[in-house]
Amino acid sequence: MSLPTIALTKDLYSDLKDKLSLPVTDNPNDYDYCLAKIDGRLALQSKKFMPFFIDFSSLAHRCEQAQYQREPLAKACGITKEKKPFIVDATAGLARDSFILASYGCPVLLLEKSSLLSVLLEDALKHGAPLEAIGRMVLLHRNALDYFSQMPEIPDVIYLDPMFPENKKSALVKKDMQILQDILEHDDNNGDALLEKALTTKTKRIVVKRHRHSDFLGDRKPSHQIQGKTLRFDVYCQNKNEKQIC
Ligand SMILES: C[S@@+](CC[C@H](N)C(=O)[O-])C[C@H]1O[C@@H](n2cnc3c(N)ncnc32)[C@H](O)[C@@H]1O
Repeated sequence: MSLPTIALTKDLYSDLKDKLSLPVTDNPNDYDYCLAKIDGRLALQSKKFMPFFIDFSSLAHRCEQAQYQREPLAKACGITKEKKPFIVDATAGLARDSFILASYGCPVLLLEKSSLLSVLLEDALKHGAPLEAIGRMVLLHRNALDYFSQMPEIPDVIYLDPMFPENKKSALVKKDMQILQDILEHDDNNGDALLEKALTTKTKRIVVKRHRHSDFLGDRKPSHQIQGKTLRFDVYCQNKNEKQIC
């Protein structure tokens, strides 16, 4: 499958052409996607959807009102009033989950292997800077499979949310996720490999987000599960004592 061509507007061309590991053009008539500044924000344009940019402000409002003790994601990651684990979100995507985890007070390292998403995320983090949670988020454009081999610091939690290929056409998939699936249509499905590699690290807790009825990643039975309405979190505890805390 050929890679999508990204058009860059003239003001962005020299800044971004080397950051994107995709074919780029400055021809505004010949592209699959176009990156442009709209009201100072980096936006992705396509013939298929309205200009899209990553924005944390509406999520921030929701997080302010949420009681994290009740949130399945927080429970799965072992977050309590006293415990704010250091989390590596190895599949950052649109960084919604990363932002929620950072809003609960956790330092979060975001890994994203797509260069296109990484530049959109970088811009979103820059513009979201006044939000307190953003100060706890650090982004690396990196393949997590490589990162797991050489982690400078062992995180308390590795969080994995690989793509759900089986749900690609579902009407239930949110608009943002449809865009993500669209721009990552050439993405390989490496969820099983991510879990296997994460389990080789010294990280005590690995959390995998799955659809409620999906198979276990890599056929690996988790230590326990936290169920949400449509999703579940499979928790792999690599330290027996941890299971009692989870
Ligand atoms: C379903 S999305 C994650 C959505 C994210 N949890 C959110 O809240 O927005 C999966 C993301 O993982 C990224 N990804 C997949 N494999 C990866 C890898 N090996 N290293 C880093 N990122 C990866 C994909 O590029 C994609 O952006």
